[in-house]
Amino acid sequence: MATKVRDRVRHTLGPGAARDLLNGVPLGHPLHPALAQLPLGTWLSAGIVDLLGGHDERSERAVRVLIGSGLLAAGAAAAAGLADYSELHQRQLRVGVAHAGANSLAVGCYLASLLVRWGGHDRLGRRLGLAGLAVAGTSAYLGGHLAYRQASGVNHAEEVTHLLPPGWHRVARLDELAAGRPEVRLLGEVPLLLLRQGDHVDVLADRCSHLAGPLHEGRIVIDGGVTCVRCPWHGSTFRLADGAVAHGPATAGQPRLEVAVAHGDVEVRLSDAGIS
Ligand code: FES
Repeated sequence: MATKVRDRVRHTLGPGAARDLLNGVPLGHPLHPALAQLPLGTWLSAGIVDLLGGHDERSERAVRVLIGSGLLAAGAAAAAGLADYSELHQRQLRVGVAHAGANSLAVGCYLASLLVRWGGHDRLGRRLGLAGLAVAGTSAYLGGHLAYRQASGVNHAEEVTHLLPPGWHRVARLDELAAGRPEVRLLGEVPLLLLRQGDHVDVLADRCSHLAGPLHEGRIVIDGGVTCVRCPWHGSTFRLADGAVAHGPATAGQPRLEVAVAHGDVEVRLSDAGIS
């Protein structure tokens, strides 16, 4: 079921600017966790006013505005969350479903809270609001688990900069690289993607920053007039010239290595400029 929903969302969104926006590609950071702060913040504020505000007319109006703003923001956060959900692995999906279910329950509590308040049942409205806050807090915990424990939103290429040995290293002979075909070589523990075009070689970290897919198994494509590699797992597209993200779901660039070809040897080193 969770897989069917994921595939359905993926199919509906398709690739393109809307999905890139929902993933957070223009921000260079996942959008969903940033948007999720808005309903949590407004609902927490509503809870504080409900508990400490004195229950007068002004406080009640403020609470309704806060709850309504949170509901609007929750819609935007859900859209971004669905885009992220559409690319999750199987084990992550289960937590994703629980997270989405808890969020839906929180939204239901707050909608009911607003409705009964409009009906004049403020006390019940306050109870429903506080119940919604407890559920939203639990859901935030699940979201944190998904992001940090199960690494669904972290940069999977970040450790490359710590694992690569400093200085220049020979990784291949130029004449053993087939032109236009991605190849993989190990430098220490780090797999690298090499693409030769004529006498020029581009080298990126091979494990995709999104969820560590093997880029050397992906396709070389021309996007916006520049040569890119497209990840075989979820289609993130990285420019070979600088490792920048052309299309998500990845939001972090791919570490790029400096390349020198001397006496037929391809040598690489990591430089600060190579970390997007
Ligand atoms: S692992 Fe998801 S796009 Fe590469």
